Amino acid sequence: MFCALSTFLTFVGVYALGCYLYEQLRTPYKLLKIRYFSDTRPTLKERFGDWAAVTGASDGIGKEYAKELARQNINVVLIARSQEKLQAVAKEITESGAGVQTKIVIADFTKGSQVYEHIEKETANIPISILVNNVGTAKPTSLLNYSQEETQNIIDTNVVAVSQLSRIFFQRMKASKLKGAIVSVGSGTELQPLPNGAYYAASKAYTRSLTLALYHEAKPYGIHVQMLSPNFVVTKINSYSKQIMKGGLLIPSASAYAKSAVNQLRDEVDETPGYLWHHVQNAVATAFTWRVRTYIAMGSLSIVAFLYDNLKSLVSIIKAVLEPYFRPNLPKTLVEKFGQWAVVTGATDGIGKEYAKELARQGINLVLISRTKEKLIAVTNEIVNNVGMIHDPETLDKVSEDTLWDLLTVNMGSVTMLTRKILPQMIGHRKGAGILLRTPALAQFDCLCG
Ligand SMILES: NC(=O)c1ccc[n+]([C@@H]2O[C@H](COP(=O)([O-])OP(=O)(O)OC[C@H]3O[C@@H](n4cnc5c(N)ncnc54)[C@H](OP(=O)(O)O)[C@@H]3O)[C@@H](O)[C@H]2O)c1
Repeated sequence: MFCALSTFLTFVGVYALGCYLYEQLRTPYKLLKIRYFSDTRPTLKERFGDWAAVTGASDGIGKEYAKELARQNINVVLIARSQEKLQAVAKEITESGAGVQTKIVIADFTKGSQVYEHIEKETANIPISILVNNVGTAKPTSLLNYSQEETQNIIDTNVVAVSQLSRIFFQRMKASKLKGAIVSVGSGTELQPLPNGAYYAASKAYTRSLTLALYHEAKPYGIHVQMLSPNFVVTKINSYSKQIMKGGLLIPSASAYAKSAVNQLRDEVDETPGYLWHHVQNAVATAFTWRVRTYIAMGSLSIVAFLYDNLKSLVSIIKAVLEPYFRPNLPKTLVEKFGQWAVVTGATDGIGKEYAKELARQGINLVLISRTKEKLIAVTNEIVNNVGMIHDPETLDKVSEDTLWDLLTVNMGSVTMLTRKILPQMIGHRKGAGILLRTPALAQFDCLCG
């Protein structure tokens, strides 16, 4: 038995390790093979064609990606919302001596669907064979701090743009038989939910799913689709953090990142962080489950809080189970521990109802609170039926005097005495959703008052 279990666990372990290594090594393997073991390594132009369009090309990764494409002899259409910034990028490319053409298209993706007609019209006569869906925006804060307009804007920029442009250019490339490429820029945040960056990470998870599906749809037409998912890069999207803006081994400049990413497009990898050290970072991160990564993303303090909370409740459960063995004189019943009365809200259905019934079973008197009088009465009757008192089925002459006194006290005395006590309060309030429970008679009385 033990042997079979250990063999099974070994298989599970080997399978899990195999899956992990396959996911981590397939892109590096492909890159090594093409760069060091292939006779030919076609240029970007040979592989995909002359023209590229880059969204969000006025700054950060998009700008540097466009400049790197130009360096590799590709003409570029620069798309973003600021004419001035786009003109400056076009000028930089021209002055770099790359000898390529540029065109700028001013488009703000938060301004509605006409932006796509505008882009189509502006690029109608250009054989664009590389589309780089780079535009993206972020605001590292809680959903509490987003307005309706900001929410719509981040969806329009991060979700709608990649959806519409991927469709438009996929259809165009297919129609004109261009064996081009579509690159979508995601982010390491796509791999797990991100508290305080929830819309952003969700938009990137969407991009990832869309892009990886499109990969299979476009492949039969010779169109290559790449999911490019950077971790931190020094750009203004991170200007909220001085630490990130300093850069480092794991946080490259936009130009270093773009150079590496464009070369990975040239080598036709389909899914990549685009940068060696981001790959290493992801290999370590994905060894943990997405739940743990979410906590890591929230900060190590949150992990400590998580462990503390969970260990604390575990310890209290163990304590509660063991306590009776070590301290036999402690009060045991609920009544002994907490007294005779409980209040249960939402008591007409589901957990509230069953909880109330269990309390009643354990000898606790109840105040049930809810909004539906009929349902409260039904629950009351049910509970009373469960816990109501009855003498043994014997003829009256055989019932002991003590039992008869109990019966009278519980089933009639309580009705009379409690009614007398509670009636003035109920009448004073004119209505009430609370039912005092001891006998069916008292429940009836509450209905009359309600
Ligand atoms: N930097 C990172 O650490 C990092 C990490 C992972 C993923 N990414 C992703 O990489 C992509 C590029 O980000 P980045 O870091 O380069 O950011 P960035 O420096 O802020 O650049 C964003 C670009 O998008 C443009 N843009 C923003 N909103 C727009 C809108 N509504 N309409 C048209 N253009 C708009 C910006 O134009 P303006 O110049 O007018 O603002 C700029 O050209 C994004 O998809 C981002 O999510 C970045």
